[in-house]
Order: sequence, then structure tokens, then C-alpha cells
Amino acid sequence: MSLHTKYPAIADLKTRARRRIPHFVWEYLDSATGMEATLRRNRTGLDQVLLNPSILHGEFAPDLTTTLLGQTHPLPIGIAPVGMSGLIWPGAEQMLARTAAAQNIPYTLSTVASQLPEDVGPHAGQHAWFQLYPPRDPGIRDSILQRAKASGFTTLVLTVDVPVASRRERQTRGGLTNPPKLTPRLALQAAQCPAWLNGIRKTGMPRLRLMESYSENRSALPSNQHIGYLLRTSPDWDYFKALRRVWDGPLIVKGVLRPADAARLADEGADAIWVSNHAGRQFDGAPATIDVLPDMRAETTLPIIFDSGIEGGLDVLRALALGADFVMLGRAFHYGLGALGEPGAAHVLDILRQDMISNMGQIGAKTLGAVRDCLRHTQ
Ligand code: LAC
Repeated sequence: MSLHTKYPAIADLKTRARRRIPHFVWEYLDSATGMEATLRRNRTGLDQVLLNPSILHGEFAPDLTTTLLGQTHPLPIGIAPVGMSGLIWPGAEQMLARTAAAQNIPYTLSTVASQLPEDVGPHAGQHAWFQLYPPRDPGIRDSILQRAKASGFTTLVLTVDVPVASRRERQTRGGLTNPPKLTPRLALQAAQCPAWLNGIRKTGMPRLRLMESYSENRSALPSNQHIGYLLRTSPDWDYFKALRRVWDGPLIVKGVLRPADAARLADEGADAIWVSNHAGRQFDGAPATIDVLPDMRAETTLPIIFDSGIEGGLDVLRALALGADFVMLGRAFHYGLGALGEPGAAHVLDILRQDMISNMGQIGAKTLGAVRDCLRHTQ
């Protein structure tokens, strides 16, 4: 039976992953902050974007290729950074890096991943991006940047939507600590997930290895403290300027929701804007990212990368229709790994690809550029 027959949608991978990932880890991956209203708003906002169906347009095979920051990509899709990826599925970072390399799409390694840039970069192919939680100490910042670059990461993503830790109540209730510790309650959950546990026996209990390589103090943070906070600061515009001076490759700023910020970032030398609400994990009063896109597009000519809540190829088209140039997914790829191991990530991409092709056929869009013309204006 083909994977598409058994798991036709990302939702099917999510259902299986939930059974195979221990509950405390699942709560980390799947949760948002507060009442999770932003998480729901992302979904509702996407559902409200309508495209006009087309008729009598004849047969065609849509072209899914696009360019971003001077590079050509087979799809407008990449893998977003996810903290503690290797806890969600053992070995996740290398698996996702290999998948990205094989499919020629971007993979973004998180500062708070469980594997080091040196161990992941060589697998990631030609579109290796590194996500930075900005270290307070400029020496540590420069060292991380040098290590990322030497490991093959060409593009830097500065995350700016974590000015303070969010509360992540559901994650806290789940019992995840940093470093993760299998208390008897959590060990019982892990024992119900043999594939996950076998993987962890091989990789060891995941830790924030990049953070730890700079940190004497490995003591546990309060469990609701954002793990990026081990070394990081809350950056300001001067920090951004300094970073722009020391990083000579493409610099993307992730977590932008106000159009005026995009305009200023363009003036200060950002190469792309990443519209994100951290998938609802930081601020439960944030707008759905899809609702921000039209004003953002009107405000800046910089490329716009989009994330938060994408669950299928139609969602990708919706984001493109409202002005995004490229779309990133984090959770979905981890659902794929949780459900099927390494091949699950490629299956997620294949679902997205097939869903895009099918829906582009419905709206008669032969290229991604043509998708914008299919937007149904309801006002
Ligand atoms: C999170 C961090 C790691 O959202 O960015 O969990």
C-alpha cells in the first residue's frame, strides 16, 4: 500500500506520531501558549482565504519552482527551525538535513537544536540556514556564527519574536525540563513508545549541545522558561546593526508582524522578512500570520517568508496568494518523522507537492506567480 493511501494528509501523520512520541514530548511539540487562541486563529485565518476556481483551461502541469535570495528551489517550501528537534524524534536534525539536501530545499538548524552545526551542516546540502537566538556575549555570538559558517550554513535567520519567555502552560504541565530528565512519570510515558526509546538509546538523551558548549552552568531552567534563554539576550536595533556588520551572507529576520518593522529592517540591511507568530507559542494575542501578509506585502519589496499553521499544499498557495514568496513548516516535518522515521519528512513534502499540484489545477494557475491572480477578493 502506498504511503499516500495510508497517510494521505499531514493530519494522518500527526495522528500516528502522537501515539509514537511520549506525551511530555508531544506536549512540547504540539502546544502553544495561553489559551492557544493564536494557534486556532492561524487555522481559521487560512481557511478564510479563498481562491477562484477556473474552468476550460485545458491540461497543464504546473511549475512549482521559485527563486529566493538568488537561489532556485523546486518548491516554495523549506524546513523551519524547531528547538530540541532531536528530542521530538531521535536524530531528527540530521534526518531533516538529509531530506532537505535530497530535495534541494532549505533546512534551518535551530540554535537550541540538540545537535551541533558541525554535525548537521555536512548533511544539509546547499540551502543550509542557521537560526540564531542572539547571545548576549558578542564573543559567543561571533563564535557561533563562525562555527555555523564553517559547517556550511550560508544563510542566517535571526529570531526576534521571543523578547521574553512565554508561559507555555501546556508544555509546563507536560513536565519537560531542560535538560530533559526522565522522572518515573515521564519514563512510564517513554516506555509506551518503543521506537522513540530505541532511538534515544542510540543518540543519548538530547541536550542543547551548542548552548552547552558555551555554558558552565548546566543547571535546569524553570520548566516554563524558553530554552533559548540560556545564553541569549532580548536584542534591540543596535544588536541587529552589529549582527548585520558581522554576518556577510543573507540575513533573514524571523517573527515580524508589523509592516513598519519590515520597512525599517529593509533600511537596516535585512535581506528577507519572515512573517511568523512562532505558531502561537509566544503571544496568544497575536494576529494570524495570514492576516498580516497583505499589509506586509504592501509595505516592503523584500522577499517574504511565511510560517505558522501551514497544514497542506492549499495553505501554501493561500500564503503565496497574499504575498508570501516562500513558506516554512516546522511541526509538520516532525509529525512525519514521528509517524514514519526519516522517510516521513520526504512524505510530508510529497503531500504538500501533490496538494499544490491538485489545487493549482483547480484554479488554473500554471506558475506560482499566477496564484496571486486567483485570489478571491471578498470585500
Ligand atoms: C520553541 C522554541 C525553541 O518554540 O523556539 O519551542
